[in-house]
Amino acid sequence: MKFRKILAAGAGAALAFTLAACSGGGAGSTDDSTAGATGGTDGGTATEGGTIGVAMPTQTSERWIADGDAVKAGLEAAGYSVDLQFGNDDIPTQSQQIDSMITSGVDALIIAAIDGTALKAQLDQAHDAGIPVISYDRLIRDSEYVDFYVTFDNYKVGVQQATSLLVGLGVLDESGAETGEAGPFNVELFAGSLDDNNAHFFWSGAMDTLQPYIDNGTLVVPSGEMDINVTNTQQWKQETAQTRMDTLLTTYYVGTDLKVDGVLSPYDGISRGIITALQNQGYSGTVADGFPVVTGQDAEIASVKLIADDVQFATIFKDTRKLADQAVTATLAYLEGGEPEANDTTTYDNGVKVVPSYLLESDIVYADNIQSLLVDSGYWTAEEVEAGQAS
Ligand code: GAL
Repeated sequence: MKFRKILAAGAGAALAFTLAACSGGGAGSTDDSTAGATGGTDGGTATEGGTIGVAMPTQTSERWIADGDAVKAGLEAAGYSVDLQFGNDDIPTQSQQIDSMITSGVDALIIAAIDGTALKAQLDQAHDAGIPVISYDRLIRDSEYVDFYVTFDNYKVGVQQATSLLVGLGVLDESGAETGEAGPFNVELFAGSLDDNNAHFFWSGAMDTLQPYIDNGTLVVPSGEMDINVTNTQQWKQETAQTRMDTLLTTYYVGTDLKVDGVLSPYDGISRGIITALQNQGYSGTVADGFPVVTGQDAEIASVKLIADDVQFATIFKDTRKLADQAVTATLAYLEGGEPEANDTTTYDNGVKVVPSYLLESDIVYADNIQSLLVDSGYWTAEEVEAGQAS
């Protein structure tokens, strides 16, 4: 593998500081130096190490802003400049951003793809220029030039989403043990964006967990919509999910005796679209009062408040500070002439090769562990949870 070696004196020593810097702020913390990073090259604060291109998919979800800020802070602490760009969920925009990073001579690329199948040409160019590519959270597919992948155990995230649905319905207790509750419960199912490899892992983990309960009649899907080609939500958009939930309600529930008991949602933005559609159709109150059990992912602050208020039932916490740390660690390994350490070399086949990966663990968040998982770890403050927004 031909990587441009750059002089990064002290970068190894700086790593310890990097990790501390990345872990310092919570998800909502902002770094003023990143303001305006959407357009143009951000000069950063230190230049002796070279420049790293960081391509994030969108600013419409707070997690990607936090990811971008944390990666940038970590790399800057190690002595690098960072060109941080957000792609506005638009595939050509992201492709152009990466093209210009390559043209401007970045030393490494960290990419969270909008469409994991759309970056082959960019990765060919990166390879020709000797630029290592780290796939961030979402796997870049169909290219042999993805050098490393940092993410979570995405199949397990799907298992956790389905588990939280079953816990909310009372089929399982919080330890995961069956309670003997046999329903039947009416549920509807949502998946993420088909062009995001993660969506397929979340769906597989969730459906492998739910299928036995569908087969034994504990769960019923009144719409019959159980195929990811139907349940998916293009670009993970909240409005798209709200529209589909509204259609499901008016087509299969309104004017019948049927009531929705639960909804599998793979991401908090989708969850909030689902909750709004349910409320618009007359579902009200809290889960304890009978509001449907809605799952989620990302521990976005608006959803954490809904969970504290017992309106959304659960989410999955993936600590993006740890993910950023891993991306920085992997990047520095390449820049220092080595290879990052993988903890998984079998799971993530991108269609051309199995990409060496570093997988992190995730946790289910319920109302009763918001404090221990999110507040005590400094991800959100108690005030932010109370307000439902980052301060
Ligand atoms: C996925 C990611 C999720 C969620 C979703 C929507 O790729 O793994 O955590 O953020 O995108 O942004």
